[in-house]
Amino acid sequence: MEYQGKWALITGASAGIGATFARIYAAKGANLILVARREDRLKELASEVKRAHGVEVKTIAADLADAAAPKIIAGALAQDDTPVDILVNNAGFGLPGFFTENDWTAHRDFLELMVNSYAHMTRAFLPGMIARDYGRVIQVSSVAGLVPGSAGHTLYGPSKAFLVSFAQSIDAECAGKNVNSTALCPGFTYSEFHDVNKTRGLVSQLPKYMFMKAEPVVEGAINAVERGHVVYVPGAWNKFTVWLAKALPRPWAAAMVRNQSKRFRRKKGDG
Ligand SMILES: NC(=O)c1ccc[n+]([C@@H]2O[C@H](COP(=O)([O-])OP(=O)(O)OC[C@H]3O[C@@H](n4cnc5c(N)ncnc54)[C@H](OP(=O)(O)O)[C@@H]3O)[C@@H](O)[C@H]2O)c1
Repeated sequence: MEYQGKWALITGASAGIGATFARIYAAKGANLILVARREDRLKELASEVKRAHGVEVKTIAADLADAAAPKIIAGALAQDDTPVDILVNNAGFGLPGFFTENDWTAHRDFLELMVNSYAHMTRAFLPGMIARDYGRVIQVSSVAGLVPGSAGHTLYGPSKAFLVSFAQSIDAECAGKNVNSTALCPGFTYSEFHDVNKTRGLVSQLPKYMFMKAEPVVEGAINAVERGHVVYVPGAWNKFTVWLAKALPRPWAAAMVRNQSKRFRRKKGDG
């Protein structure tokens, strides 16, 4: 029970990678604060992990594309003196289409969730971690944040690249403290992500070796943040992809991503 008495706040805990973080941290003894929009799912997961592991669980229904949400979450937790020892910023989705096919409101809401909410949640809970000299912060980025940008889902790669650089900055600022910061960079992972952005049909044609289950992704990330690894890429295939994108001359890497991404990036009008 490595994390007995610690509180882990996980955003996007109602499905996929976030729900897996919740189950694994609870199995390791952590109490949980589960955040997402679908409260019924959060409550169901809360009952499951309480029953299985006897931990305490709080659920907070929030839309993190609303700029006010992180402050409301922090306020609610401050009111009942619940510390956040472990923060997993994970909530996310993919917005199909080329940049000009989506209006600014869609892009703005995307950035609010995928960039601002991650920074705002970190700003809200990092001071408490520093004061208590214990903190683990995981930003769920992507392989897409470590390779050149692609056509379609235009802001996805840039938002994930921001998280890599952000995790590195927080790590540098917390040097010498017992506060570790990691950007988790998964590749294709089984979850609801590709159902939500309606690319399931496309990605199911990709070879199975390109996919990972959420459990090893999350176990790897939890070990990485404990070891102080700032950028963690799970899985041999993902590691190879990232290595290749860095080893190739930049225009070649960009061409590789451009050609590959046609296989899994949906245009706005598609099915
Ligand atoms: N699956 C992959 O292949 C893959 C690869 C690399 C990186 N990632 C990243 O992994 C993270 C988790 O994705 P996943 O694969 O687990 O997808 P998922 O199964 O679709 O889960 C996404 C989670 O984010 C929450 N969420 C979405 N919009 C939200 C909002 N506005 N406010 C609050 N919560 C919101 C969803 O909950 P509600 O709908 O209930 O709000 C859900 O819990 C994302 O950041 C994604 O970019 C995924």
